[in-house]
Amino acid sequence: MRRKVVAGNWKMNMNLSGTIELISAIKNELNKSDSKTEVIVCPPFTSLETAVTVLKGTSIKVGAQNMHYESDGAFTGEISADMLKSVGCEYVILGHSERRTIFGETDDIINMKVKKALSSGLKPIFCVGETLEERESNLTEKVVESQVKNGLSGISEHELSDLIIAYEPVWAIGTGKTASPEQAQEVHKFIRNLISKLYSDNLSENLVIQYGGSVKPDNAVELFSQPDIDGGLIGGASLKTDSFVSIVNS
Ligand code: PGA
Repeated sequence: MRRKVVAGNWKMNMNLSGTIELISAIKNELNKSDSKTEVIVCPPFTSLETAVTVLKGTSIKVGAQNMHYESDGAFTGEISADMLKSVGCEYVILGHSERRTIFGETDDIINMKVKKALSSGLKPIFCVGETLEERESNLTEKVVESQVKNGLSGISEHELSDLIIAYEPVWAIGTGKTASPEQAQEVHKFIRNLISKLYSDNLSENLVIQYGGSVKPDNAVELFSQPDIDGGLIGGASLKTDSFVSIVNS
C-alpha cells in the first residue's frame, strides 16, 4: 500500500517566533496521535533551520517552498539546493501555481528545478493543476498532461522514486472551493495512468499523489479516502495546529 503524506505549505506566513510556536504545538499534538501518515512542514526560508532544530528526534520532515536551479552564482535573492540541504531540508515544493502565475515560472524552469533538486538529494513536491477557465473549457487533462510531461522531461524512472506529485486545481487554492472527491479522484487517476504510460506500472503504483486546494478538517477524510489520493498539500489550514493535526489524523 502507498504511504500517505500530508504537507503544510505555509507560504509567506510566520516569522521566527511564530514558527517555533506553531511547530512546537504541532509536534506535541502529533506525539499523542498514532497516525502513520508522513508529515512535512514547509515554512519560509528564514525559518527552515529553526524548524529542523525544533523537530530533531521526531519523524516530521521539513521542506522549502522554492529554490533556484543553478548551483550558485550571481542570482540576487535566490536560494540553492545545496543551501537547503545544508540546513537539513529534505523536501522542496516546486511548480506551485503561485510560482507559475505570480512569478512567471514556466514548465521549462520548473523542469530545471526538479532536475536540480533530485540530483542534489532533495525530494520535490511537484505541483500541477488547471485554472477555472481551463476546466470550464474541458482542458483539464490536456493541461495537466503537458505540465507533467514537461516538468518531468529528461528525468529517469529511478530518480522519480523520491518525487511526490501534488494535484492542485488553481481554482481551489485559497478560495474555499474544493474539488469534489470525485473530481479530484478523476484527475489523480488520470495522472497515475499517465505515469504508467510514460514510465511503468510499478512507478505509477508507488507514486504519492497529493491533493491540494482548500483542504480542511471537514473535507479531508472524504478526499483522502479516494483510491488515488495519497494525502494533501495544505495551505491555509496548515497555519493552525488544530486544523493541521486534524487533517493529518484524517
Ligand atoms: P490552500 O492552499 O489549502 O490554502 O487552498 C493549498 C496550496 O496552495 O498548496
